[in-house]
Amino acid sequence: MAIQFNVNGKPVTVDAEADTPLLWVIRDEVGLTGTKFGCGQALCGACTVHLNGTPVRSCQTPVSAVAGQKVTTIESLSPDNSHPLQKAWIAHDVPQCGYCQSGQLMSAAALLATNTNPTDADIDAAMSGNICRCGTYSRIRAAIKTAASEMRSKA
Ligand code: FES
Ligand code: FES
Repeated sequence: MAIQFNVNGKPVTVDAEADTPLLWVIRDEVGLTGTKFGCGQALCGACTVHLNGTPVRSCQTPVSAVAGQKVTTIESLSPDNSHPLQKAWIAHDVPQCGYCQSGQLMSAAALLATNTNPTDADIDAAMSGNICRCGTYSRIRAAIKTAASEMRSKA
């Protein structure tokens, strides 16, 4: 079936079965491969995208559920690493293997969209569904605080 939705501000129409996971539609039909497959069971967060601004696990979101709605992927942050989160991730040298990091960034972006002065507890709550097998959690927390600081300074 033909399904229309919006990805990173652009309308797209895909031909897919209604129950196809959004993750595969984003990667294989739309061609945006920054969103990663980890567990496929909504347990790791590697596939996190935003649906109307709210983080969702695209591996467990059927594409039919996003018809007519707005999906945002990691590619939306900036094409030149100029988003405060991207700059902070680089400054803190956050990634190790990198596999979880686009999901981490999308959860962090959703947090900072509504809270540019998060406490440790706020960060833990927002990021608890994103698993990093390399254990980069302390650098992620520091980078979120750095990005939040930059966003506050420009507000
Ligand atoms: S791949 Fe979707 S939560 Fe793990
Ligand atoms: S950086 Fe390797 S899984 Fe997170």
